[in-house]
Amino acid sequence: MNILLLGSGGREHAMACNIAASSRCTRLFVAPGNAGTASMPKCRNINIQPTDFEAIHSFVVSEDVRMVVVGPEAPLVEGIADYFQSCSDLRQVMVIGPGREGARLEGSKDFAKDFMQRHGIPTAAHRTFTAQTLDEGCAFLATLKAPYVLKADGLAAGKGVLILDSLDEAQRELKEMLVGAKFGDASVKVVVEEYLSGVELSVFVLTDGRHYKLLPAAKDYKRIGEGDTGLNTGGMGSVSPVPFADKEFMHKVEERIVAPTVKGLHQDGIPYKGFIFVGLMAVGDARTGNLDPYVIEYNVRMGDPETESVFPRLKSDVVELFEHVWRGTLRQASVDVDPRAAACVMMVADGYPGHYAKGSVITGLDRVEGSAVFHAGTRLADNKQVLTNGGRVLCVTSLAESMPAALLKSYQEVEKIQWDGCYYRHDIGQDLLKLMI
Ligand code: AMP
Ligand code: GLY
Repeated sequence: MNILLLGSGGREHAMACNIAASSRCTRLFVAPGNAGTASMPKCRNINIQPTDFEAIHSFVVSEDVRMVVVGPEAPLVEGIADYFQSCSDLRQVMVIGPGREGARLEGSKDFAKDFMQRHGIPTAAHRTFTAQTLDEGCAFLATLKAPYVLKADGLAAGKGVLILDSLDEAQRELKEMLVGAKFGDASVKVVVEEYLSGVELSVFVLTDGRHYKLLPAAKDYKRIGEGDTGLNTGGMGSVSPVPFADKEFMHKVEERIVAPTVKGLHQDGIPYKGFIFVGLMAVGDARTGNLDPYVIEYNVRMGDPETESVFPRLKSDVVELFEHVWRGTLRQASVDVDPRAAACVMMVADGYPGHYAKGSVITGLDRVEGSAVFHAGTRLADNKQVLTNGGRVLCVTSLAESMPAALLKSYQEVEKIQWDGCYYRHDIGQDLLKLMI
């Protein structure tokens, strides 16, 4: 069948590799894609934005597309799955991604917190405030201990969470968010929550709304600087599996979080066919293994750059898994995972996540051997040179028998790739290796 994948990042390039490898896939279109997806066999980029539902509609009909896989959250939050259901000529098309209601798990922090409370899912204690209840919010902050966590309710391009050390600053920022519209409409409501201290990890679930399958867990590295310092980014690298997320810990995650989440969606009458990405804090002592999982956030899509270390480990045919998701038969499927470790190192443009240049010529890609290069912000010039075209430019993922070996291999290959003003972190995975000693 013909398949359309929406998105243009490293996540989509990694997904495209698995999708195109399926015998069920005849042609794969990526909207809009990048230089990586442009050069894959079976694959063609199309110049359509993932939220342009009408353009997607015409394309799906004219190219006989039978499955649409949604990479980023924006089309989901804007209701692409509902749009397909509302059009008689699109209703049969398999859309992998939840409808607008399910996407609120990511689109509204307040909705997600209510959902967790209602279904007894462990998460930080919280309260939600509006401009009308600003004084109560400031008083509530005064009852908490530092650091203070403020979260804009809506999508704020990954910037809507503030963690502040002083009460004064937290109260000032709360006012800025609620009254000063610091994040526009996204901060009309603000969630104030208890700070959780621990190690973060990302757990991925594929669900048909009744049944679910766990995909490999991963850890991403969000800050620009080594030792997790400096500004937040989209993600500077990832590893999978996560060594401390052993059988016992994952059992707790499944029992306390994943199963109640899928059951909760069903009980609330929210159909959900797609990915759930649970951002977790493992609270406790990682050295003794006495850890308890708490939900930091839900996302309704795969993570980026976690996908770049999770998808290369998936041995099952993902298109078949998606067909099970659509039909509601996921229980019959099995997810086979490569036991090897994957390590992904993201290469970014100097200056990112602030101002950075685009259009630098990337060299050395042809020298990479035995590792995958997933493109994120790249484009093909007319002369076929690959140019930088974003902050996160590309990442290198390697599979090896151990995490240290996978990291070593990725760093060896990263050194072969160059452009003017290229930067990457040298310490991906190092925190986990320390925990393992
Ligand atoms: P979010 O957008 O909800 O993922 O939050 C962004 C980042 O803020 C998370 O990845 C965590 O590192 C941090 N964070 C969010 N909520 C909390 C919390 N309650 N306690 C500690 N850190 C948090
Ligand atoms: N890696 C975090 C995210 O995709 O939101």
